[in-house]
Amino acid sequence: LRVVVLVSGAGSNLQALIDAAAGDGAPFRLLAVGADRDGTLGVERAATAGIPTFVCRVPDYLTRADWDLDLERQISAVDPDLVVSAGFMKVLGPAVLGSHRVVNTHPALLPSFPGAHGVRDAMAHGVRVTGCTCHWVDAGVDTGPIIDQRCVRVEDDDTVESLHERIKVVEREMLVDVVRALAADRSWQGD
Ligand code: GRF
Repeated sequence: LRVVVLVSGAGSNLQALIDAAAGDGAPFRLLAVGADRDGTLGVERAATAGIPTFVCRVPDYLTRADWDLDLERQISAVDPDLVVSAGFMKVLGPAVLGSHRVVNTHPALLPSFPGAHGVRDAMAHGVRVTGCTCHWVDAGVDTGPIIDQRCVRVEDDDTVESLHERIKVVEREMLVDVVRALAADRSWQGD
């Protein structure tokens, strides 16, 4: 399976995919990594692994639609089967979503706590169990069909940071499992 990964930050989910793709007989290959900002550790991780990178920053375009079109062009240049949004903190536009199948990972049990602060919002609500979700991306924010979810218990002494770190351990495993599963069963490609 030919995969492009989009990142905005530390890229630990990306790193899990890089490591899994490097294994013998891995069913997927990372063709390129794109970011929406400069200087991300995610892009650095990709470069270290010898994966081509690109940066597509919204403020560099006249309109958000131009950004969407150029992001689509950069993704399409490597002709992927699948785009993985792994901590990519921008809502994708119609150009990208119209030409690519995109999966996203989110650090809460959707449909609860969508948006940029899923971990904080779940804690603020007082949930005792939270987790992570991998889903197909549609035009909404964290709304598309769910592919997989994993649970994480909230401990009494958790902070948003400590909880997010434990979620991310599980999230990385989930994301690798999902990409492997999508590589093994390609029926979604005909959808
Ligand atoms: C992940 O928890 C992702 O779901 C969230 O931000 C985190 C990104 O982590 N939106 P990383 O950049 O993969 O380390």
